[in-house]
Amino acid sequence: MEQKTASDWWRSAVIYQIYPRSFYDSNGDGIGDLRGIISKLEKLVELGIDAIWLSPFYRSPQKDGGYDVSNYVDVDSIFGTLSDFDELVAKSHALGLRVIIDLVPNHCSSDHPWFQAAVNSSENSDARKYFHFKNGRGEKGELPPNNWQSMFGGPAWTRIKNSDGSLGQWYLHLFDSSQPDLNWENPKVRQEFESILRFWLDRGVDGFRVDQPHAMAKAKGLPDHPYADEAGAGFIEGREAPPMWFQDSVHEIFRDWRRILDSYPGQRAMCGEAYVLPLSLMALWVRSDEFHQTFNFRFLDADWEKQKLRAAIDESFEAFGRVGAPSTWVLNNHDVMRHASRFGGEYGRATASDGVGPDGPQPDNSLGLRRARAATLFMLALPGSSYLYQGEELGLPEHTTLESKYRQDPTFFRTKGGRVGRDGCRVPIPWLKNQPAFGFSSNGKSWLPQPKTFADHSRDIQEKDDDSTLNLYKAALRIRSSMNLGSGEFAWFDDLENSNEVLAYRNGELLVVHNFGIIDLPVPYGYEVLLASEGKNKKCLGANQTLWLTPRVR
Ligand code: NOJ
Ligand code: CA
Repeated sequence: MEQKTASDWWRSAVIYQIYPRSFYDSNGDGIGDLRGIISKLEKLVELGIDAIWLSPFYRSPQKDGGYDVSNYVDVDSIFGTLSDFDELVAKSHALGLRVIIDLVPNHCSSDHPWFQAAVNSSENSDARKYFHFKNGRGEKGELPPNNWQSMFGGPAWTRIKNSDGSLGQWYLHLFDSSQPDLNWENPKVRQEFESILRFWLDRGVDGFRVDQPHAMAKAKGLPDHPYADEAGAGFIEGREAPPMWFQDSVHEIFRDWRRILDSYPGQRAMCGEAYVLPLSLMALWVRSDEFHQTFNFRFLDADWEKQKLRAAIDESFEAFGRVGAPSTWVLNNHDVMRHASRFGGEYGRATASDGVGPDGPQPDNSLGLRRARAATLFMLALPGSSYLYQGEELGLPEHTTLESKYRQDPTFFRTKGGRVGRDGCRVPIPWLKNQPAFGFSSNGKSWLPQPKTFADHSRDIQEKDDDSTLNLYKAALRIRSSMNLGSGEFAWFDDLENSNEVLAYRNGELLVVHNFGIIDLPVPYGYEVLLASEGKNKKCLGANQTLWLTPRVR
């Protein structure tokens, strides 16, 4: 088992996710870019994070926000150039920030030369073996090869046309039809990715966030999903793994990758987006010779409800602790409804990518923000590594009234609007209240329109307001760092009065308490408030509030 050393930065790091398209636009085309990120890095240092994770900036037709890569070793011209990337890494490192990049190995874009070559080659060619091409079922091959569904809706198979115009084989895509799945049984695919890893490690990246690693290995022969009627494209916790999700054979790929990372100087780390539950199974992915971290989807999925939250935290420490890995904690990313809206409505599971549109039930964003600030404080004192998603430090709500004509998420198109999708959490973020596009671009352009309510969330006004969400995040991260909370010792604290309404834990000297009840409670006797999720309210433990407390010095 891996030994914990002070230099295991990833064990306690706060990692800030940048969705480049929506962070900051430096050249007025309405799309965020690498130079925009470079120009704002100081703001992230002020925030107090340890590392940034960049969602994909590779060459891509942007059918799925860059998770459809047509060249893994180049920067798309909408984002900049490789030399911009080098500058971004150099400047980040000079400022003390590490840089993690998103690697998308389960599928590439249908524009990738590998796929183009496959489509233009014969059925048994080497080019086709990069993907999962199969003949269809039915007399004329008119039916898809199996019953698999796409995560974005509809079948997971699309039939190609041969060069003579006749209908040909089908190819597998667990996501959009523009994202063909790669065949990880093919050693050539493995070699390609090993050199892609080295390309970026050589350029100085500190690691990778790996997209959909649990989908990469498929069961031999691609049999039907045994309970697709109930699970659709997904799986049901506790049931056997469907043939496209978390197959055992996938682990050897990451052991190979770990060896590559370990052969580089510095501590390069991999975080897997392994949506595998329960966490006792997810923990197999963070054994000491595989991923360093995985996203804690149990925590992300947990409703803001006392028992569920407690159970999620217990399960996390138990499962990851057993393999010597740190737990991660996360409340937001580019695939889920922002927590400032999620916690303000009766919505289902956080990771449901259905989204909410103008016709859906609108959240109470003021209750949502109160709970979101409290949830963040509750999270940031937990030992382990925490992930933040750009804009949450501004308390941004989901854009739930985005009109259909602006939508870009393939989920929206593949379900003919039945699921509105994830655009609402990907809207460009506000920097300056009184500028066009709230300062996201110089001329007001913005690839998705921003709601008017973003004005009051702009960074410039929050910088000047002691009680702003931004200043709450900064204060929490400052204290987290000075008290070493990320590598502290966790224990539930059940001895408080009103213990039915509150959930409390200790991390060293710090006592963290959240009030799940509906009435305000007194600050626990013998403690004083170090930080309160509602800045102005330090005199009591309000409903939906979290306090960070230390023993009162007499
Ligand atoms: C997970 C990514 O986070 C999501 O945005 C993307 O659509 C899918 N993987 C497919 O790459
Ligand atoms: Ca731009």
